[in-house]
Amino acid sequence: MSMDERTSLRSRARHRLEQRYLELLCSVYLYNEHRGYRGLDRVLDGVRQMASRGTLPEGEAFIARVAKHRADERRHYVMFRRWFERRGVMPFDVGHAGHIDGIIQVFFGRAIDDLEPTPFVDDEARFAQLCRAIALTERRGMAQVRQFQSEPVVQADGHLMKIFKVVERDEPSHWEPYEDWLAARGRPRSRWRERVGDTAAHVVLVAGKFPFMLFNPWLPRRADWPDDGEAETSPRRDGAAQPHAG
Ligand SMILES: [Fe+2]
Ligand SMILES: [Fe+2]
Repeated sequence: MSMDERTSLRSRARHRLEQRYLELLCSVYLYNEHRGYRGLDRVLDGVRQMASRGTLPEGEAFIARVAKHRADERRHYVMFRRWFERRGVMPFDVGHAGHIDGIIQVFFGRAIDDLEPTPFVDDEARFAQLCRAIALTERRGMAQVRQFQSEPVVQADGHLMKIFKVVERDEPSHWEPYEDWLAARGRPRSRWRERVGDTAAHVVLVAGKFPFMLFNPWLPRRADWPDDGEAETSPRRDGAAQPHAG
């Protein structure tokens, strides 16, 4: 094999790995955004109940901020779905590769799906814990999106860069409502044990699950979309599907 052939083989292998990296990254995002807005549906149910019982003095204003957060995460989900649709490939099946999965496990000692529907409605300390979990997850999300935007392989994908710009712009409004709620009650923004849990969940994902999936040739692709069967407007007709919208 000539030197030229070896060089072109190497560059093709590198290109394939970079494309796989991007598709895996977006698969993890797609999963997280979906997990995010579905989880926030439950939070919304809970805060509405709290407001109707008079245990949420912030009332409608707080509900509106959570509803905006939920709408943003749904919009982010749609942007990542569009990214895959434009490429003509399905996302990888990443299992429970969400930062929020790790955080909830550490904070509440069980998986998200095993939590009672609204465990915090009658328990202010538990709601405070949930607020800290959401705020930590969102702050982690901001640090991550900034890091990804600095990676050359991401910068080479204009569509993905636009998506990340939207995510970065939206992120502060995602932790603020919960941190404001905590501050109004003189509660800490986070506890050291929770910060350790946040770091641990991050390390497991970044140093363990992600590289394992990246180099696992048997990693399957999804056969369906996470939001199949949901009542919401389909992404193709959803005006919010464009990265520049909203
Ligand atoms: Fe998001
Ligand atoms: Fe967010």
